[in-house]
Amino acid sequence: MSARHFLSFMDFTPDELVAVIRRGIELKGLRNRAVLHEPLKNRVLGMIFEKSSTRTRLSFEAGMIQLGGQAIFLSTRDTQLGRGEPIEDAAIVMSSMLDAVMIRTFAHSTLTRFAAHSNVPVINGLSDDLHPCQLLADMQTFLELRGAIQGKTVAWVGDGNNMCNSYVEAAIQFGFQLRVACPEGYEPDPRFLAKAGDRVTLTRDPREAVRGAHLVSTDVWTSMGQEEEAEQRLARFAPFQVTRELLDLAAPDVVFMHCLPAHRGEEISHDLLEDPRSAAWQQAENRLHAQKALLEFLVTPAYRAE
Ligand code: CP
Ligand code: NVA
Repeated sequence: MSARHFLSFMDFTPDELVAVIRRGIELKGLRNRAVLHEPLKNRVLGMIFEKSSTRTRLSFEAGMIQLGGQAIFLSTRDTQLGRGEPIEDAAIVMSSMLDAVMIRTFAHSTLTRFAAHSNVPVINGLSDDLHPCQLLADMQTFLELRGAIQGKTVAWVGDGNNMCNSYVEAAIQFGFQLRVACPEGYEPDPRFLAKAGDRVTLTRDPREAVRGAHLVSTDVWTSMGQEEEAEQRLARFAPFQVTRELLDLAAPDVVFMHCLPAHRGEEISHDLLEDPRSAAWQQAENRLHAQKALLEFLVTPAYRAE
């Protein structure tokens, strides 16, 4: 199968990632100037959701419409996937009708199995392992606000989850230093850490991670699929809340990011999203622009050849 996929940051070269992010900024400018740009006319994106979503669904759906195409929402509850149709069979059939497929799933292997049988690009809209589309938006936001992230220091405070794993991959691809502060037993996946070498360091002390950092990011303590652990996690993560006082230890021009949805009073203090150092709303909007650039890159080969 010759299609390019975006299941992880490692599927693109660093130059390709930067090109997509820069293009996201251009597309944002076009939209802000109300310039019509419809390179994906008659193209259709299928979106398979095993988990809930607000931003991912909206940004892909609105993005496809703005690019002149269409998006179809498919819940596993309403398709034969929910009744046991093999993912490989679904991939063959769906990719014969669609121009790209986005999947939000539990097991990352659902994505790799689908991609192995798909003739069209497959995009990871979040798995238990990774959330690369969110990292495109995060990297675009940092570039807009502070310029290149290469050589900067990023602190991840909280759960070593799918978002954190994607930060590990971003540290490799964008050349920044990542400090992860998490409780014992909640580290990022060792498979990703092994690739990162000394680009990533682990600590149990959020203050140590944040000191002098240029970007501080966190995420919920209980991800989708872990609901039964919620109570136990609340207790384990309590010392890892990101507050204004914690951010005061970071670089004076630190940017705070949260992929959202946020739980105020848990991973962040009640006032943090309203703090001037928070870029969470810009970051959320950039899902739209960065993913439009991704779709343009993956679905229109003519653009890629330029
Ligand atoms: N950040 C993010 O992926 O949000 P949704 O779960 O709302 O899609
Ligand atoms: N880590 C969170 C991210 C949600 C966008 C989850 O997987 O639920």
